[in-house]
Amino acid sequence: MAGSAQAALLGLLPVRAHAGSARIDGLIARMTIAEKAGQLSCFNDEIRPVGAVFNPVVDPRGADAMLADITAGRVGMLFNGYGVAGARKAQAAALRSRLGIPLIFAADVIHGCRTIFPIPLAEAAAFDPALSERAARAVAEEASAGGLHWTFAPVVDVARDQRWGRVAEGAGEDVLLNRQLAAARVRGFQGKDLRRADSLLATPKHFAGYSAVRGGMEYAAVDMSLAELRETYLPPFAAGFGAGALATIASFTDFNGVPATANRWLLTDVLRGELGFAGVCVSDYDADRELIAHGVAADEADAARLAILAGVDVSMQSGLYNKHLPALVESGKVPMARVDEAVRRVLALKEALGLFDDPFRSLDAVAEKKRTATPAIRATAREVATRSIVLLRNAGDLLPLPVKGKKIALIGPFGADKANLNGPWSFAGDARDGIDLATGIRAMLADPAALAVEAGSGIHAPLAGGIERAVAAAKAADVVLLAIGEAGDMSGEGNSRTEITVPAAQQALAEAVAAAGKPVVVLLRSGRALALEGAVSDAPAILCTWFLGEQTGPAVADVLFGVREPTGRLPVSFPLATGQQPWSYDRRSTGRPAADADPMEPGRSHWRDAPDRALFPFGSGQGYTRFALAELQAPARVAKGEAVQVRVAVTNAGLRRGEAFVRADIHDRIASRTRPVRQMKAYARIALDPGERRVVTLAIPYAELALVAADNQWRVEPGAFDLWVSAGGEELHSQFEGV
Ligand code: NOJ
Repeated sequence: MAGSAQAALLGLLPVRAHAGSARIDGLIARMTIAEKAGQLSCFNDEIRPVGAVFNPVVDPRGADAMLADITAGRVGMLFNGYGVAGARKAQAAALRSRLGIPLIFAADVIHGCRTIFPIPLAEAAAFDPALSERAARAVAEEASAGGLHWTFAPVVDVARDQRWGRVAEGAGEDVLLNRQLAAARVRGFQGKDLRRADSLLATPKHFAGYSAVRGGMEYAAVDMSLAELRETYLPPFAAGFGAGALATIASFTDFNGVPATANRWLLTDVLRGELGFAGVCVSDYDADRELIAHGVAADEADAARLAILAGVDVSMQSGLYNKHLPALVESGKVPMARVDEAVRRVLALKEALGLFDDPFRSLDAVAEKKRTATPAIRATAREVATRSIVLLRNAGDLLPLPVKGKKIALIGPFGADKANLNGPWSFAGDARDGIDLATGIRAMLADPAALAVEAGSGIHAPLAGGIERAVAAAKAADVVLLAIGEAGDMSGEGNSRTEITVPAAQQALAEAVAAAGKPVVVLLRSGRALALEGAVSDAPAILCTWFLGEQTGPAVADVLFGVREPTGRLPVSFPLATGQQPWSYDRRSTGRPAADADPMEPGRSHWRDAPDRALFPFGSGQGYTRFALAELQAPARVAKGEAVQVRVAVTNAGLRRGEAFVRADIHDRIASRTRPVRQMKAYARIALDPGERRVVTLAIPYAELALVAADNQWRVEPGAFDLWVSAGGEELHSQFEGV
């Protein structure tokens, strides 16, 4: 498939990397092979370590040895350190090396640096690329003030198996939302000019297909059709690169049998040939050495050879390039030209960041003080947290709650808990800065004594007498807030689960509390979609609150009491049962689809014990008012290159001002390959007063009608398309001919 055809159909123009310069050519001409290997080596920063990152300890050497290695020209970049003072020391050591090439400082700034934002999955629930861009900008301003140039983010792995723990880090199951947020986050991190001291290089990762691990088990094998790779997994990368990202990380996993780190087809033909990527490809942590455990490399030298020849420019943490590239080049097993190509890309990154002209950019102790944990960044974190919350059910308009006149029991292990607000990868965050639910809710109440707080259970195990105390608190209250779900370390890297349910001890608490007979609002905390059961799935009100970061308490209180409307929508489908995984709303059609009217009809696609549907599918979520849809207008015929212009009248049919989320999905009725049963192609939001009616226009670009056809080429196949437009639980259907 031609890369340009894909780019054209997806409307993307891959950005070329910084072109390099006479300075770079001059340096390469002077570098020894050992110095070249040094530039291609990236190590965990032991000079200014940060505690909270998920990487096993591999080859530690201590700060002094690291500084000596830097001066010896054996280090190209450091990662996961934080703080200006330590970075200045390291940079000074680099400037003392023979060629004085500056270091780049990278880190896993996944959802905040010092000020922790909602996990990326939660932020995706806002369905708001402009907000994601603003959040990434705010995060970049703080991170770059703390001595960082580069973030290993955004994660753009489309995640359709909720057992996989890293669902938390990305934008969920939908391709369009992943594309939009990949581009928005890259723009936000990088800002307008990479040379500015407040810009952060972005890294769409992990290339590619990582999230499709078998059984949802972390690091397991990945097998998929090339059409699926191109239609589902590559477009978010293309969007991130198109927005200017100059780095990526190769996936830990294999791809159709060849580990990504050794996969020349994936890292060179696809990444560079098809997607036009011209930046730096980094191995994941120790992943070149892991080629031995994968069983494709005989030893470390072989692993280094496979990785560099596949297209891995930089080796992360293993040190294999330092150890083996000189001999591999000497023996002719690796051409010097390939090493030079990789070095050129790394030096071009340093040049693009302006490091040759100002090696101490982003290493300013005054800026560090001024731009860290400021009221402004905290306000942005709170805004994002509020916009991330999804109201999944609100029977009898139980919410919003009044701020006075009701006794509230906040029950569950997360009611007064600060340790589990942030979730995975909360880089330099400090749990002590977090505001828990009890504090946020109490601050909203006219009479703070109206709130009773009972843990009722531990996260994983019962508390002695916990259920009895919780039931008594429920009985004494008018309404129960049930704060249950996952601990912060139950999702994220290395945290795949076989059952994506609420832990048993908490489920028992939920059953007992529900039996007390008071209305229950579930405040669900998680880093993935969960399979809700029993009293939790039956609760009259359910708010999905993910891991919202340090502003959890105020954000949840804003929504609970109606200071803010809940506007989030699910970026991942909540299944009926774990056994349905992997599942996504845009799964492909089958030859025996079940009819809506009889989802369990024998002989049709479903499980013996569950239909082929979700409890709350992708896009679910409501506000505090209702909307009506009417007068859907769509063209009967769409000419080549023309957008599908859709118009629909939306009326606020409720009693409160609110924001409608209007969405258009399509289905290609007859194609050379089976198509998704439906797929979101456009959406818009509109705020309306009670009774107000407005016409909303949605434009679906022509390229969105394309598929990777049976011959592996992107194209629009002429024929009939279904069109659904929905808002607030209402849906209208139409169809059009695409030519
Ligand atoms: C391993 C993870 O897969 C990757 O996402 C992360 O950037 C590196 N470790 C560095 O911490």
